[in-house]
Amino acid sequence: MGVHNCSIVVLVLLPLLLASSSSAATDFDFFYHVQQWPGSFCDTKGGCCFPGNVKPAVDFGIHGLWPNYAACRPAVGKNKTECWPEFCNAADTFDPLLVSDLKNGMDRNWATLSCKSNDSTGFWSHEWEKHGTCSNMDQHAYFAAALEFKARFNLTQILLDAGVVPSDEETYGVSSILDAITAATGSKPSIGCNKGVSGEMQLYEVYHCVDRTGTRPVDCPGTVQGRKCTDTVQFPAF
Ligand SMILES: *[C@@H]1O[C@H](CO)[C@@H](O)[C@H](O)[C@H]1NC(C)=O
Ligand SMILES: *[C@@H]1O[C@H](CO)[C@@H](O)[C@H](O)[C@H]1NC(C)=O
Ligand SMILES: *[C@@H]1O[C@H](CO)[C@@H](O)[C@H](O)[C@H]1NC(C)=O
Repeated sequence: MGVHNCSIVVLVLLPLLLASSSSAATDFDFFYHVQQWPGSFCDTKGGCCFPGNVKPAVDFGIHGLWPNYAACRPAVGKNKTECWPEFCNAADTFDPLLVSDLKNGMDRNWATLSCKSNDSTGFWSHEWEKHGTCSNMDQHAYFAAALEFKARFNLTQILLDAGVVPSDEETYGVSSILDAITAATGSKPSIGCNKGVSGEMQLYEVYHCVDRTGTRPVDCPGTVQGRKCTDTVQFPAF
């Protein structure tokens, strides 16, 4: 192939390469940084299991760091609306070796409670592949950002300080829970609830909103879809 032909190939391919690299940057608006209360995870019909059969600390654990849209939108080429991007790069599978220096922190702060597996690797793979691949971060940056954000505020301590103590009898007002977290962290969170085995409403997840860099807390735009809470909830013991 002559020089001229080569440059034609480059001219034809270059826009395609640029287009594919720019479409890899996902245009979400903010992250949800989601932490789950193990007492509420466990007080369900499915129950819970612990990695290595060792009960984790009595503390919130990370569920995930989820890119999200400010408003749901029609999905391109599909007959549905979507509220977040997901599974953005099937080729970029979770590799534990890329986060080996973070593993201790992940074991302590991001453990699976699911009985589908006694090892958190499957949980981390799912979070990376569904949400992390849309974060515009690499694997190490993604897991580090989620751990660092959790380390800034101790939600368990914030709730204890506000008199919201784990208990299987007490109920607490949702507005006082939201006010305590807002006052302590400087940004308005959302919460999600689930139902315990006796049908009682329980505080299950706290959603903080974080800017696209994964570092700066921002106010959450509204309530999280699904996982609705009643005005008073339990905060079950763990
Ligand atoms: C889109 O989906 C809705 C509900 O899922 C369905 O009723 C409707 O027929 C679909 N429209 C098209 C064009 O496929
Ligand atoms: C997890 O460990 C528990 C207790 O050792 C065991 O009963 C359960 O079958 C294990 N689950 C899986 C999926 O390996
Ligand atoms: C958060 O605070 C609780 C209650 O004081 C404590 O048990 C827990 O270890 C703390 N979490 C971290 C990650 O330090």
